[in-house]
Amino acid sequence: MTRSGRSDPEGAEERPGAEQWVPARPTLGALRDALPACRGCELYAPATQAVMGEGAAHADLMLVGEQPGDREDREGRPFVGPAGGVLERALADAGIDPGRVYTTNVVKHFRFTTRGKRRIHESPGREHVVACLPWLEAELTVVRPDGVVLLGGTAGKALYGSGFKVGERRGVLDSWPRESEAAPAWVLATTHPSAVLRAREARGATYDGLVADLRVAASSLTGP
Ligand code: URA
Ligand code: SF4
Repeated sequence: MTRSGRSDPEGAEERPGAEQWVPARPTLGALRDALPACRGCELYAPATQAVMGEGAAHADLMLVGEQPGDREDREGRPFVGPAGGVLERALADAGIDPGRVYTTNVVKHFRFTTRGKRRIHESPGREHVVACLPWLEAELTVVRPDGVVLLGGTAGKALYGSGFKVGERRGVLDSWPRESEAAPAWVLATTHPSAVLRAREARGATYDGLVADLRVAASSLTGP
């Protein structure tokens, strides 16, 4: 078994984070062009490619997941695997027009361990999240959404710090917790859609909770 992202712990500490690879005057096109060269942490090495956010250039709502999964890593697009299917359905059930949404992840490379031919998801560490945040900040600067929905614990911790717990904060509108030039008007945390897939007996209730939280976000979107 190889452990991606753990093969070079000393190197990881020395790595500078993404800052130097992020264009000074970002547009979505410039970010997309620059992202593949990022060496801000060691996760680029075993992954197939970096996965940039996708969606409306001036979306009203930005959805922030954890990191690309297996499918996303192969296809180079966010939320195209099973969790993406849940998310798509939940957005529809919450009455959110996908044309008003931009979807991205806190970490742009897939972290995994290998078991035989299988690649098993491994959550990014705090160091990867911190290293990768300049890309999300740049996406926020360009897209300027009214609101941000944080999907799950990794996205929540990225913004609120490591004490964040989804169960304690979910479904409640909050102000942006970081100093940022591009602070959206509000932020709301909810369950990650893959938690719906992992839940067995509670699958229906977990899904309903996600939809209920997304409805709170929907009701906070201004305009038609
Ligand atoms: N899970 C995520 O957090 N992001 C994706 O893009 C896919 C699955
Ligand atoms: Fe850069 Fe983020 Fe990929 Fe690390 S995970 S190499 S910081 S894009």
